[in-house]
Amino acid sequence: MNINGYHFRTIWPDPEDNKSVYIIDQRQLPHQFVIESLTNVNDAITAIKDMHVRGAGLIGATAGFGMYLAAIKAPDHDVDKELEAAAIRLNKSRPTAKNLSWAVERVLDATKKVSKGVEKKKAAYATACEIADEDAAFCKQIGLHGLELIAAISKKKKGEPVNILTHCNAGWLAFVDYGSATAPIYAARDAGIAVHVWVDETRPWNQGAKLTAWELQQEDIANTLITDNTGGHLMQQGLVDIVIVGSDRTTHTGDVANKIGTYLKALAAHDNNIPFYVALPSSTFDWELEHGAQISIEQRSGDEITWISGMDDTTGKITTVRLVATGTKAVNYSFDVTPARLISGLITERGIVQANKEAIHALFPDKKTQVRHGIIMTPTEHRHSIRKNSLHLLDYLIIDQNGLQTIYSMGRTLDVSENGLKLETTKKISKGDTLLITVGLEDDLVDLRGEVVHTEILDGFHITGIEFIDISADGRRIFKKYAEAFRSLQTNNS
Ligand code: MRU
Repeated sequence: MNINGYHFRTIWPDPEDNKSVYIIDQRQLPHQFVIESLTNVNDAITAIKDMHVRGAGLIGATAGFGMYLAAIKAPDHDVDKELEAAAIRLNKSRPTAKNLSWAVERVLDATKKVSKGVEKKKAAYATACEIADEDAAFCKQIGLHGLELIAAISKKKKGEPVNILTHCNAGWLAFVDYGSATAPIYAARDAGIAVHVWVDETRPWNQGAKLTAWELQQEDIANTLITDNTGGHLMQQGLVDIVIVGSDRTTHTGDVANKIGTYLKALAAHDNNIPFYVALPSSTFDWELEHGAQISIEQRSGDEITWISGMDDTTGKITTVRLVATGTKAVNYSFDVTPARLISGLITERGIVQANKEAIHALFPDKKTQVRHGIIMTPTEHRHSIRKNSLHLLDYLIIDQNGLQTIYSMGRTLDVSENGLKLETTKKISKGDTLLITVGLEDDLVDLRGEVVHTEILDGFHITGIEFIDISADGRRIFKKYAEAFRSLQTNNS
């Protein structure tokens, strides 16, 4: 992507000493172009969580470099331990984009393949760079495949501009380069095809208004900003030829999680017989989830809806103002799920594919779906204190009897019912394994550690009984109660 004639990626390591990583602080765009330096994993976590960087591909690339920063800060004899801890924390930073845990696991896998600390640091660096390079290369390929769709419409329209509607920012800024939904648009421009883009403003964070419109302007692509509710009307008027959006997580059955409001665009496109395509690199596929309903949807602060910021033209300063009456309650779902049946096709780096399990697996035969097992933890006492939906599973770590550790990040389903906690895992858990589970209760986080004391298969689920042996040092009383309840369950059973 070119900014004032200079080519930029959205993230890059310091070319002098590789001790820090640079990003563009997207919170300041389009008014200021600010480059920020990340020097440790905490910086990377803050950048992801507070959306200095955002968009699935870039979140993944930042997580990869975050792991590298954690590795170089670790003593040579402790790189694995520091990376495990960094992985857990990075995985918690934002839940919906699959690319995050995908990148974290890729760095963990690479560092586990070598034994010396110094080699692990090198492997972390090489893998983080690979993730970033691959992201850019895959997006370029997505552009070439998507170009065929735009070229066909242009031909049908005898060279009249092709009107493309997009939602949020699935552009260069959401990846390392090119973008996913924008890559076919850039490729069409390069092929001399006339295009015009309808840009949804994308409340509440306004990624469309602040980022996509600016990005397209920098690239000299005709675009018009619209409110989020305008798309349906434009479609009815024949002013939209194709919709192309990105994805944060796509199940291997073709359901797509993307920025809130994407589903409504898909419904309107379906009703008006307008092709609706989703552009994504394979790092966004979730090879474990069968249904979009299993995707963890991030909820962000209601303040993002009730307050708004922009440039005060008089003072030249960025100003934040309250939009609503004080005390107005707001709920802020950041993503929604578009079912596969509403999607005309998925534009990937390997080609365009129908949004269904058979087609996706035929294009990606090398990706394996893992079997999921369930764990139920049933407290005998204090049952009344578990409120449905009051607990969120953040991640859990299984340490098997050979000391091997497997981390699972949030995004797996957890059901909290009167019967206890239920979660799914892709790994069969055995008696004697240790489980380290991080759960959140409203704003609190707590780690519970337990030993698996009982396993059985029930209704296709692998059911595991757990004796909790300790909780994190700062464990709050409520969790102490749980730990005691689990302990007394074990005592009563033995
Ligand atoms: O909350 P954001 O800005 O990270 O959400 C980004 C989107 O929803 C994009 O459309 C999505 O990441 C697809 S493109 C990577």
